[in-house]
Amino acid sequence: MTDSQIQEIKDKLDILEVAKSYITNFKKSGSNYFALCPFHHENTPSFSVNPELGIFKCFGCGESGDVLTFIQKIEGLDFVQALELAAKKAGVHLNRTFSKHDSKIQIEKREILKINSLVAEFYNYILTKHKSGEKGRDYAESRKINSKLIDNFLIGYAPKSYSNIIKFLKKKGYKIKDLIRWGLVVSASGRIYDKFRSRLIFPLINQHGDIIGFSGRTIFKETKAPKYLHSPQTLVFDKSNFLFGLYQAKNSIRDKDFSIFTEGQLDVISSHKTAMNNVVASLGTSLTDNQLKLASRYSNNICFCFDNDLAGENALIRSSRLAHKLDINVKAVYIKDAKDADELINKNKAEWTKTVKNAEPIVDHMIKRLYKRLDLSNLNQKEEFSKIIIPLIATIPNKIEKAHYLHRISLILNIDEDILKEELVSIPEEYDTVPKINTDKIINILKSPENIKEDYLLALVLQHTNYINSSVKNIKAKYLLSPNAKNILRKLEHTIKKSKNFSIKKFLKSLEKHEVDYVENLLLMNLESYFKNEIDFTSEIKDIYKYIKKNFLQNKIKLIKNKIESSEASGDKDKIQSLLKELINYTDQVGKL
Ligand code: CTP
Ligand code: MN
Repeated sequence: MTDSQIQEIKDKLDILEVAKSYITNFKKSGSNYFALCPFHHENTPSFSVNPELGIFKCFGCGESGDVLTFIQKIEGLDFVQALELAAKKAGVHLNRTFSKHDSKIQIEKREILKINSLVAEFYNYILTKHKSGEKGRDYAESRKINSKLIDNFLIGYAPKSYSNIIKFLKKKGYKIKDLIRWGLVVSASGRIYDKFRSRLIFPLINQHGDIIGFSGRTIFKETKAPKYLHSPQTLVFDKSNFLFGLYQAKNSIRDKDFSIFTEGQLDVISSHKTAMNNVVASLGTSLTDNQLKLASRYSNNICFCFDNDLAGENALIRSSRLAHKLDINVKAVYIKDAKDADELINKNKAEWTKTVKNAEPIVDHMIKRLYKRLDLSNLNQKEEFSKIIIPLIATIPNKIEKAHYLHRISLILNIDEDILKEELVSIPEEYDTVPKINTDKIINILKSPENIKEDYLLALVLQHTNYINSSVKNIKAKYLLSPNAKNILRKLEHTIKKSKNFSIKKFLKSLEKHEVDYVENLLLMNLESYFKNEIDFTSEIKDIYKYIKKNFLQNKIKLIKNKIESSEASGDKDKIQSLLKELINYTDQVGKL
């Protein structure tokens, strides 16, 4: 396919129409359309589409792009697949020649997904139909994994043979070298054999439904082999960025508006015997911020359901701190009378549902948990209590909640709140590598730092192109402090000087990539909620500009006053004179505003 074909598809597709086929309830606001974002859970619409420019952006989760990116993300496709689908929608016939988009990596990615799908079907066939699946069927039965679960999770069985999958895939024309790289076959001490043997096979399915790898559980109780084996990292699989069960759970997570994180894969699978099936798990590794973000796309509430031992407690503290920093709400549950969720569900399904429904906010949960195992009349144990609980409170994003718990802890420990606050400050931020997700809501524009105000001013200007000539003339770039806004305003001035008929599309074409991103953001903001008619628009621009100018001048005045002070110290009279002149000039300007 060629670049001109890609352009043709983009031109033919109306991004709003495409979006409407996935999202309902768009509301028009200015030249943009707003709806609830399909890429994360939210209650107020921050997903903005501009059909004229063919772009979208979610101000909640930050996803953005054009119609192709939209299709790619919502359908979970790679670029080429998205293009194919888009071509179909647009009625454009694609010439399938290789292009820069069809890189070697993409070809290999598709190949891995294809072979994984083949392998999953193969192992599933063995488990469900083939005579060599006998032992697998026995084991599945002993674990109460019924045929509905087997279908839903595409569970399979790898018999004990050393060359089952090798033979199967060789016949299909695959090269051993590739099978080793993709983790289906291992090569050790000069021998080559199947990686998974005598194991139940759980395909690792990502949120889009692609099989990106495998996990195998041994069917033996006593064995020297590891209980679980997973695929190695490949072009399509990265453990730290994957949640087992998310694909099967995502709708349930959205509906119930929370996800449950368990420790094991069997916990996830068993939960689907109940309606409380909004369950995911990592593959035995500690949670990463990527995994939490993945889940928070579907709901911003998480319930942790970890083991009742000390390791589980540590995992709980660590994961909750990570979640706090991503502004995710955390609850936790205790599993009573069973080792884990899987065991509980197989004993008593209703008990599982009840347990989850009784989940408590993480700090309350942790206080109770610590009460059970610590004696707070003992000084050492009191100290241990605070060592565990204080770091947890330190990361709570909500200030009121934080204050509430500090107060409670001070009562429990009978320690002055101020001392606890000091402790709070001295917590090392060992997990501070977590990047904050961009949750800036438009509402912040009116009440946050200067450069956001400047962005708002430019957004006002750019979204009212009818008036752009006069609004740009009335604003002087020199008063802007944000480099981004200043730069774009200068470019606008330049463009308007050159031609009277301003076209936003032409303007976008004249910009560099990072500038385009910035301007598109401004174009997609929802401004309508702040003013109602054109008169409002002009006075809004005036007000905001006045504020920015005043802020700029006051900054200058502060600076000059500082300079005067230091000149007075050195006794430089001429300097003081000229500075005073400047000061009067700026104060006058402020007075005239
Ligand atoms: N795990 C692993 N390697 C192991 C043991 C465990 O990768 N040798 C991972 C698996 O993803 C497993 C999770 O850690 O699901 C939790 O381990 P564990 O509690 O030991 O297993 P369960 O999930 O409870 O599995 P089972 O019920 O089959 O014992
Ligand atoms: Mn288990």
